[in-house]
Amino acid sequence: MKLIHVLLSLLCCHLSFCRVPAISDASPEDLVEEKCLMKKYTHLSCSKVFCQPWQKCIDGTCVCKLPYQCPKNGTSVCAANGKSYPTYCHQKSFECLHPGTKFVNNGKCTAEGKFRVDLEYGNKDSEGIVKVKLVEQDTHMFICNSSWSIREANVVCFDRGFKQGALDVHRTFHLSENLHINSTECLNVHCQGLETSLAECAFTKGINEGYQGLAGVVCFTQNEGSPRERSFQCVNGKSIPWKKACDGVNDCGDQSDELCCKGCQGESFLCKSGVCIPRQHVCNGEVDCITGEDEVGCKGGDHPAILGLLSMAREETKLVIAGMDTERKRIKSLLPKPFCGVRENIRTRRKRIVGGKPAQVGEFPWQVAIKYDNKIKCGGIYIGGCWVLTAAHCVSTTRTHRYQIWTGLIDWIKPNSELKVEFVEKIIVHEYYNGTSYQNDIALMEMKPNPHSKRCEIPNSIPACIPWSPYLFQANTTCVISGWGREKDNQKVYSLRWGEVNLVSNCSQFYSNRYYEKEMECAGTMDGSIDACKGDSGGPLVCTDINNVNYVWGIVSWGENCGKPEFPGVYTKVANYFDWISSHVGRSLISQYNM
Ligand code: ARG
Repeated sequence: MKLIHVLLSLLCCHLSFCRVPAISDASPEDLVEEKCLMKKYTHLSCSKVFCQPWQKCIDGTCVCKLPYQCPKNGTSVCAANGKSYPTYCHQKSFECLHPGTKFVNNGKCTAEGKFRVDLEYGNKDSEGIVKVKLVEQDTHMFICNSSWSIREANVVCFDRGFKQGALDVHRTFHLSENLHINSTECLNVHCQGLETSLAECAFTKGINEGYQGLAGVVCFTQNEGSPRERSFQCVNGKSIPWKKACDGVNDCGDQSDELCCKGCQGESFLCKSGVCIPRQHVCNGEVDCITGEDEVGCKGGDHPAILGLLSMAREETKLVIAGMDTERKRIKSLLPKPFCGVRENIRTRRKRIVGGKPAQVGEFPWQVAIKYDNKIKCGGIYIGGCWVLTAAHCVSTTRTHRYQIWTGLIDWIKPNSELKVEFVEKIIVHEYYNGTSYQNDIALMEMKPNPHSKRCEIPNSIPACIPWSPYLFQANTTCVISGWGREKDNQKVYSLRWGEVNLVSNCSQFYSNRYYEKEMECAGTMDGSIDACKGDSGGPLVCTDINNVNYVWGIVSWGENCGKPEFPGVYTKVANYFDWISSHVGRSLISQYNM
């Protein structure tokens, strides 16, 4: 039975209907990763998802930006306090700081009455049929049931102050006999699911097929959903049926049901970072997975995950209100993004480090050499501006003047013309660096700027990107190490060498209590043939994402001998130090997203 299933799924893959892991016979509980759930991730956890453009990521959480940090251009919007804001971003950032100043309409504030949502024919104020009055219209309208989903229902409940969103979207409410809904029209509404008011969603005209065709909602109240057995506990305190976890739909309202997934069910797509997104978000022009793969290979709509959707006919609809989603995307595209991690076009790599290969000029534009007195002591990584990242065990904060940073270097016996020598202004060692355990083996070196321009001009260097989330790369990913360190037989190396290693999970099996999961990363090869060695310390372990952007995933730190299969190399896990690095070099230098 199991075998047939596997065969079938293999066959399906050939026909490129391939769904993310064959899971139809797995129970939903098996799709969820328990260890991850304990971290209580939500839509505000920027190691799992992108923040909204009016938020920035601090210590793993999306926090409100100040309105002045919004892009300037855009058109004014009106908020519930009756004030106009220069752009949607300004209003959302203000609302983020002062909840209650919700969005009302795109454009100036008008006298013609406000946007309103009411719940009718329910027994409590937390439930009923949804009735809306749009701005500049004086008639109330109902919402058609056909387009109604938990996304919209959650928004209605958020809007009314129910922080956990909706409990039920399909309850029928009975209109009393003499009450009659006389309109044959209703409104279709479409939200993203994280809006705070229905006014931010898109409205189109629809046809009302009697009162069963109208959308109703029951908002989640504390007493309503006494946790049933076998239910998934959302971080916000709501409980939902297990079968709704890891299905791409934000049933919880805080997305906590979609952020710790090993597989995804139904019409959804699994991001490498363990997040399920709706299938419709694949190849929709906006990156949803922090790892980027939902928008790769999309030309001509041939992304395997959306083949099935292409045939679905798109119903023609009459737009009443466009919604703010396009504006949200536009704002996102206007946010500044520093340049990093992309090599200039170089001849394809002709393919040492222990067992490595010689590097050519331009192949490792972020690699620097750290010279102390007359020796190349360590490697380092250029990360932009005047800053170089290295290992704490490589440097001493008091002897700044005895260090030099050599950039553009290949061979230090016969230096190439690209070499540029920089002096050191300042050295910052992590305050919790422990020279015995090698914990927090990370340091920053600031190069002396050009006295005239007050900047560092390093023509042959390109900064590597700093990973902002520990979920950007997973175990078994092949990454690259480089350096001037020794060969296995302790032979000296004069020319830069590189080699490919795989990220190793579960490294405590090799190093037991010497390995600290959160702060360290292991990498190596099965046979140990490729490894960093003495002299490579402080240099880069670089991983490349699906868009060919290069990240410093690790800093060469320590290892038991060199090139022993039973002892992989240990690296400082750079993603764990994003906030430490940005606190010294400035957020704008290294924040690619979530600025
Ligand atoms: N601590 C060494 C150095 O100073 C780096 C050792 C890396 N060892 C390894 N097997 N990966 O250069």
